[in-house]
Amino acid sequence: MLPPLRLGIAGLGTVGVGVVKIIRQKANLLADRTGRPIVITAISARTRDKDRGVPLTDYAWEDDPVALAKRDDIDVFVELMGGSDGPAKAATETALANGKDVVTANKALLALHGQALAEAAESADQVIRFEAAVAGGIPVVKALTEGLAGNDITRVMGVMNGTCNYILTRMQSAGLAYDEVFEEANQLGYLEADPNLDVGGIDAGHKLALLSAIAFGTKVDFKGVELEGIQRITIDDINQAADMGYRIKLLGVAQMTGRGLEQRMSPCLVPDSSPLGQLEGGTNMVVLEGDQVGQIVLRGAGAGEGPTASAVMSDIIDIARGIRVPTFGKPAKGLAQATSAKASASAPYYLRFQLLDKPGALAKIAASLGQAGISIDRMRQYSHEADAAPVLIVTHKTTRDALEAALAAFAETNVLAAEPVAIRIEAV
Ligand SMILES: NC(=O)c1ccc[n+]([C@@H]2O[C@H](COP(=O)([O-])OP(=O)(O)OC[C@H]3O[C@@H](n4cnc5c(N)ncnc54)[C@H](OP(=O)(O)O)[C@@H]3O)[C@@H](O)[C@H]2O)c1
Repeated sequence: MLPPLRLGIAGLGTVGVGVVKIIRQKANLLADRTGRPIVITAISARTRDKDRGVPLTDYAWEDDPVALAKRDDIDVFVELMGGSDGPAKAATETALANGKDVVTANKALLALHGQALAEAAESADQVIRFEAAVAGGIPVVKALTEGLAGNDITRVMGVMNGTCNYILTRMQSAGLAYDEVFEEANQLGYLEADPNLDVGGIDAGHKLALLSAIAFGTKVDFKGVELEGIQRITIDDINQAADMGYRIKLLGVAQMTGRGLEQRMSPCLVPDSSPLGQLEGGTNMVVLEGDQVGQIVLRGAGAGEGPTASAVMSDIIDIARGIRVPTFGKPAKGLAQATSAKASASAPYYLRFQLLDKPGALAKIAASLGQAGISIDRMRQYSHEADAAPVLIVTHKTTRDALEAALAAFAETNVLAAEPVAIRIEAV
């Protein structure tokens, strides 16, 4: 049997404790599968004497994760603290500089500093693995980096923030307003300390940026992700989209276009009969499309102790087996600078507006669409509430530029009672 693989684990919260449990409970299975014992040598967290529900006295303790990252008796630094900067970044850099491989679940760190860290890892002849950073327990990094490595990837899509999917599906099933379900999610502990990371699409945007880098061989470009959160989605949008056969999802889409890399994380309508449309609650789904394989759909738990620790273990097991792949699937210096392209591919759109009860009002809206070159696929008008009536239009495929021109023209018509809502309908 090979010598043990020695781990230093920084961060003993939900994920860290999950990893400690697997290593303690499945020692024989892990050794059988890798041909060597996997052991924890040292640990670090903020508070030493916290009961974490798992015995920790066998392991050396470090108050400072950077000191942990330097220890001679660890081979792999497992970063499970979180945060894009601060101790997570400092300790990861220290670990690489001190000849350790790194396993992390930290999407924020890699979305913002992934290129520099990948280059540092390669210069030091070490690896960084991050399966748990994207879609929790779903092995999507491995699928893209290894399983689909023989494909040109044409598109990556996904629902990658369970909290947003919980909020949207709960609004629909319980008929509740956004604010009510947001508060419910908060009470249940589903939201990050800064909820905007979830509902503003930032957390999911980090994940999409990481997948794009692997899929398209480009440097991680989080700034290039067009972000829009779910805060403006109303129960009316959800109900009326359902009436037209759609569900609203916070959907990430990345594709390489003639004009550059398009990455967007925004609310989209998807057909309610599609796999993405049927996705309920906190579950995640990632759809990968390759030129040879066609479409692959991966679905599973995007967060939580067991699923996330399962993903961390897959990286640790790879390292124990001697499997060493570049961070983003090809040498970091060979990753291209992405030219970010605003969503250009044409798509149908869902439009919802409150039409004032005035003669010729609808004709003015139709004319605005016509002048922008947009034709109407379907339209529905609901009965008047006070002096306005809700109207829904599903357009035929059009470009964002044309849509924006039409929305600007709407504003000049003086027949709308409120700002119109426009949501892209994604072909999935
Ligand atoms: N939870 C999930 O389902 C999930 C899913 C996917 C990815 N992730 C990622 O996994 C990472 C960990 O998430 P988590 O949910 O396990 O977080 P968590 O429960 O908040 O735990 C964070 C841990 O890091 C420790 N820590 C924080 N700052 C530290 C510092 N300066 N020095 C030493 N230790 C420090 C904390 O110590 P104390 O316990 O002493 O406070 C705690 O043990 C994050 O990057 C997160 O984005 C989480």
